[in-house]
Amino acid sequence: MKIVVVGGGIIGCATAYALARAGCAVTLLERATPGAEASGAAAGMLTLLGESGQSPFENLAIASWRLYPKVAEELREQTGIDVEHVTRGTIYPLFTAEDVLHAEARAARHPAKDFGIEAWDAGQVRDREPALASRVRGAMFVRGEHWVNNQRLVVAYAQAAVAAGVVLRAGLSVSRVVVEDGRARGVVADGERVDGDVVLLAVEAQPGQLVASFRARLPVEPRRGQMLALTHVPPILRHCVHAESVYLVPRPSGELLVGATVERVGFQGAVTAKAIAGLLRAAIELVPALGDLPISRTWYGFRPWAPDSLPVLGPWPGVEGLWVATAHFRSGILLAPITARLMTSWITAGKPGMDVRDFLPDRFVRG
Ligand code: GLY
Repeated sequence: MKIVVVGGGIIGCATAYALARAGCAVTLLERATPGAEASGAAAGMLTLLGESGQSPFENLAIASWRLYPKVAEELREQTGIDVEHVTRGTIYPLFTAEDVLHAEARAARHPAKDFGIEAWDAGQVRDREPALASRVRGAMFVRGEHWVNNQRLVVAYAQAAVAAGVVLRAGLSVSRVVVEDGRARGVVADGERVDGDVVLLAVEAQPGQLVASFRARLPVEPRRGQMLALTHVPPILRHCVHAESVYLVPRPSGELLVGATVERVGFQGAVTAKAIAGLLRAAIELVPALGDLPISRTWYGFRPWAPDSLPVLGPWPGVEGLWVATAHFRSGILLAPITARLMTSWITAGKPGMDVRDFLPDRFVRG
């Protein structure tokens, strides 16, 4: 089967790789370079808290989380790239005695014991993450919440895809899908037709524009996220710390990521003083010693968001051979391995292998 995948973000690269391993002839088209957009701008947290396996989204998140150790190992074997899968766990700071009691109850009743949810009192917080401010009265600790270096992950998936036979064409902008007799036959990219039996749109925030040519619209919009990194040598934090208005991700490479805003500003590409000031204020309130660290970089990205905040996965209604995998919003890195697996099984064998009813494009698009 000849497949054109449009979009070289984490979803496009991971799925192109999985499709090639399943025996498909895959061309991957990316308008810039792999991971140049949302996937490269992310923080790489594999965040699960609250996911108890009750809804299809939670099932998807948990299934993907379970794949990560093997994904990291496989990508290292295939490409030599270490995606920095750090498994030290995430701390959710708590500020009142009541919050600590709730956390204890939640930890006791959580069904997924392998996430390792624990409630910590102030003394345990002090022992395990001494740099947290003294106003932190306790914490919910999730041992199973890990993180990866998402920039390395996209590059590793792209390289593994190429090694598996994918033809990666970067710098090509797809303007439309070619539909003949109700079937997708390929795409037009910078005036050139690229043929395929199947077209998979894994573009991040703009599938609505891409498919406007056949009057179908997918209401996927950008949600800007701004972030910064501090030079974190020697490290002050060992764990990922996730509070309401800021999260802190210590990378083995010696950076501490500080994120992130969620803004509805269209495609305004800018890092703003107000956003960076707000993130820094929240970070320093939580960990006062961060105030002395140098800022190494700031950036923004556009998360693809659908109105119900769920991914959009599956066949495009009314056009045979056209598929979509987008709108992963804040969970694209976490969901990439399972998205790649289920889209490959769905496209090649007709079955996604999971309950995907909540994610179908036809909740927005009519054929
Ligand atoms: N997943 C992290 C974020 O959306 O900021």
